[in-house]
Amino acid sequence: MQQFDIKKPLPHKPLFNPDGDTDVLKRRMIGGNTTNLNDYNNLKYTWASEWYRQAMNNFWIPEEINLSQDIKDYPNLSPAERKAYDKILSFLVFLDSIQTANLPCVGEYITANEVNLCLNIQTFQECVHSQSYSYMLDTICSPDERMDILYQWKTDEHLLKRNTFIGECYNEFQVKKDARTLVKVMMANFVLEGIYFFSGFMFFYNLSRNGKMPGSAQEIRYINRDENTHLWLFRNIIIELRKEHPELFDDHMVSEMKELLMEAVRQEIEWACYVIGNEVPGLNEKMITDYIRYLGNLRWKSLGYAPIYPGCEREPETMKWVSQYSNANMVKTDFFEARSTAYAKSTALIDDL
Ligand SMILES: [Fe+2]
Ligand SMILES: [Fe+2]
Repeated sequence: MQQFDIKKPLPHKPLFNPDGDTDVLKRRMIGGNTTNLNDYNNLKYTWASEWYRQAMNNFWIPEEINLSQDIKDYPNLSPAERKAYDKILSFLVFLDSIQTANLPCVGEYITANEVNLCLNIQTFQECVHSQSYSYMLDTICSPDERMDILYQWKTDEHLLKRNTFIGECYNEFQVKKDARTLVKVMMANFVLEGIYFFSGFMFFYNLSRNGKMPGSAQEIRYINRDENTHLWLFRNIIIELRKEHPELFDDHMVSEMKELLMEAVRQEIEWACYVIGNEVPGLNEKMITDYIRYLGNLRWKSLGYAPIYPGCEREPETMKWVSQYSNANMVKTDFFEARSTAYAKSTALIDDL
């Protein structure tokens, strides 16, 4: 198997490369000699085909979800609910935006064409998610309020700190193009998709179960369905990379990955206690903390490692309602059911995380 110096800069993916390898057995996740030809029939990573189809079947249009009840509910949210709604949405806007911008940077070093196709679909979906937030804000609040929510990181130090942590990790790969830094970016991506997003989504599901902002929750369910597949993609990329380059995943690398995940869990708990706390009906800090630690365990275990947070291996009893909302198989809305075949094919999303 091909080895390369993990301390040296990674070779940049060639663009036009008629001398690239066509033999799938020579294909590599990073450092390979790709032709960049979109060949859907010769795949080394066969799961990419299933992923691609699933992602395409998940296509949805944010504006087709009815937000008329949300227009009425938004002004009547309690101050605590309103604060949490605005701040969590602001964080989600940032996350989808930075994903949209950063995924192509990762793709520049991925030399498996089938995986690049998936990353491109993911990038497109992150645009759709950003557009859905825009549609939500355009619908429920004034242009001034919308601007305030979009750019809360300019006034909220806590939010700026969170965004900075993610941004600096992604930025590091802009200047340090080695394999270790790329793995860290992939791990940061994985925790962003699998912890930050899922924790944020939970708040909207809670509002909905209390009879508030049902359209927002429905938007989030579609986003959630996509994020499930993004998690699946990055988990697979990391696992394949580990198979191809075990020397890269030495104890030091694994402890750095674990540290990153634990820091993500710590920050997410601190953030959720700050934005939600004990003031929002249906949630409290204990429930939030248990749920986020459970997510941390779930993600770490899905990469093949032992759970980190004892007693948080299962979905907390108090939070069972979250998976009822987020279960991809239950995402059926009026607009999907009203459409016979166009893009209503996806009813069985495989969520094995
Ligand atoms: Fe997204
Ligand atoms: Fe995503």
